[in-house]
Amino acid sequence: MAPSQAPALAADDGCGIDVADGRHLRDAFGRFATGIVIVTTQWGGERIGATVSSFNSVSLSPPLVSFCIARSAHAIDVWENTPSFGISVLARDQAELSTRFARSLSDKWAGVATRPAARVPAPLIDGALMWLECQAYARYDGGDHVILLGRVVAATVNNHVAQEPLLFYGAAYRHLAPKTPQEKIPDNAMWLHGW
Ligand SMILES: Cc1cc2nc3c(=O)[nH]c(=O)nc-3n(C[C@H](O)[C@H](O)[C@H](O)COP(=O)(O)O)c2cc1C
Repeated sequence: MAPSQAPALAADDGCGIDVADGRHLRDAFGRFATGIVIVTTQWGGERIGATVSSFNSVSLSPPLVSFCIARSAHAIDVWENTPSFGISVLARDQAELSTRFARSLSDKWAGVATRPAARVPAPLIDGALMWLECQAYARYDGGDHVILLGRVVAATVNNHVAQEPLLFYGAAYRHLAPKTPQEKIPDNAMWLHGW
């Protein structure tokens, strides 16, 4: 539909926001629910990590994932140069770790249980739902962020924790609600399963 044909919003359909206002734009972006990962790497003998909700799967062949890191991040030089990194997908009981790795602390790692990665020199967070080991594949300009693409060289699913993710929505941590009968996928939506 051409922009001129788009139906006008009724006054009570919503509220336009000023996209130049970072606070309002952040609130709008926050209506998109995500999981949370901690991205990690090893740099100059130091362990580096940051909490990230901008993680996404990108490609199956080759296997690629992405995340965006702010140019204002303390460790931005590392993320712009590291040849590899790890991804730990947080489980529902790991909100405290998410908050810890979202702070520019001098030692985010004190008391954090890790497991070594098999294929890249990155510490992985114990108790996560799933771990990916990635080689840096590409970096792109993302405005006030840098977009990193990683080629997945190893993936491990943790069968020892309940298969429940930590979620982020509306600037708050959330958990999945239990499935209810009304949420059963209708037969005509079976094509979704291929995705
Ligand atoms: C739930 C959550 C999601 C976040 N997602 C991102 C993100 O996608 N990209 C980003 O650059 N920072 C994100 N942050 C903020 C970083 O975790 C934070 O700036 C961190 O301090 C960066 O590490 P550093 O400054 O020590 O390098 C997020 C924080 C939280 C709590």
